[in-house]
Amino acid sequence: MIGHETFTGHLDMVADLLEARLEEVIAIYEERLRAIRSPLISETETREQVMAQARSVLKEVTGTLRGRGMSSDMQQGAAYLSENIGVSRASGSVHAFHSLRAVVAFSEATLAVLVDNLPPSPTSRSEVAAVALTIQNSFMERVMRAAMAYANYLLEKAHASHADERRRISRELHDRVAHSIMVAFRSLELHEVYEGKDPAKAQAKLELAKSTTQEALELTRSLSRELRSTSAGEGLEIALSELLSISVPWEIQSRVSVEGDESLLMPQVRDELFLTLREGIRNAVTHSKASTIIVEVDIAENQVKAAVEDDGSGFILGRKEPRTTGGTGLASMKERTALLGGTLSLTSEPGAGTRIEICLPLLPGSRR
Ligand SMILES: Nc1ncnc2c1ncn2[C@@H]1O[C@H](COP(=O)(O)OP(=O)(O)OP(=O)(O)O)[C@@H](O)[C@H]1O
Ligand SMILES: [Mg+2]
Repeated sequence: MIGHETFTGHLDMVADLLEARLEEVIAIYEERLRAIRSPLISETETREQVMAQARSVLKEVTGTLRGRGMSSDMQQGAAYLSENIGVSRASGSVHAFHSLRAVVAFSEATLAVLVDNLPPSPTSRSEVAAVALTIQNSFMERVMRAAMAYANYLLEKAHASHADERRRISRELHDRVAHSIMVAFRSLELHEVYEGKDPAKAQAKLELAKSTTQEALELTRSLSRELRSTSAGEGLEIALSELLSISVPWEIQSRVSVEGDESLLMPQVRDELFLTLREGIRNAVTHSKASTIIVEVDIAENQVKAAVEDDGSGFILGRKEPRTTGGTGLASMKERTALLGGTLSLTSEPGAGTRIEICLPLLPGSRR
């Protein structure tokens, strides 16, 4: 039977061993990440974060094995690092799955070095178990912090995108509805001025007041319909067809095709995809002077591809980015796609129309 003090002494020795072989553990860890093609090491910034986290965990593990906890400075540093990692994974659309695989790779690397170098003793199994448990505890706290930062980042983005939507509607109300009502009001005033003096002019002002009031009414109706159409609860195909019938003027031809099984899309993915396509359609209607707008969605087991294409004026990419136009549509399309871990590509040329393609990954088994 081994006494408690002897076992504690052994843990000190294990801590010495891990400290002495720290670079070896780090190298094996990196090798394993490479072997599983982890996206975490493909960019310098994320690679540095991952390695800093590994070193910090090893420091915590050796400190705990020696019976010392982490100093408050170290604790703060670990919390800060984990939160940064959460934000950077969320903004880089790196799925949490890759972080969990990295945790497993790190444990395997550390335990492999330990098992290879630990002198045989009756307690070596317990020592390996103690190290495994300490690694697990250290990661538990860090993963929790990173996950909270990840979720907060996404919530803030979703909030910002809803705020953008509200700003857009308020701008439409101000610029178009309020403007038409203003014109109608001024025309009625002028009608009063000309009434009795110049019947033809008075009549013209009355006609103008009527037509602009009609315009304001139409705009208000279409804005209210748009406000209702912010989700695709009845399915993408129905929602997109309705959207095209509401928002595309009769002189522009439009068609939509949805291939594949819609039940493979989670409601959140389906609604976000709908909002992204809606902005593509809105842009084609507002800016392109197209004669045809085509919307295509193709749903497969592991991904959904969608496109909005018009044969209109096109534009020079980069020149009319949102910064110069004050628009937020393209930026929010990119953001929505990135938040779902997908990609958006835009091809446009002056005179040759515009095509926007979206590709979103679907997790196996995420059927709604
Ligand atoms: N399909 C298209 N055809 C021609 N030009 C386009 C098309 N889509 C976008 N653009 C150009 O890119 C610019 C940026 O589009 P974006 O959606 O970001 O902003 P916006 O539509 O001007 O404003 P917002 O979407 O915020 O109401 C547009 O102003 C327009 O000049
Ligand atoms: Mg737009």
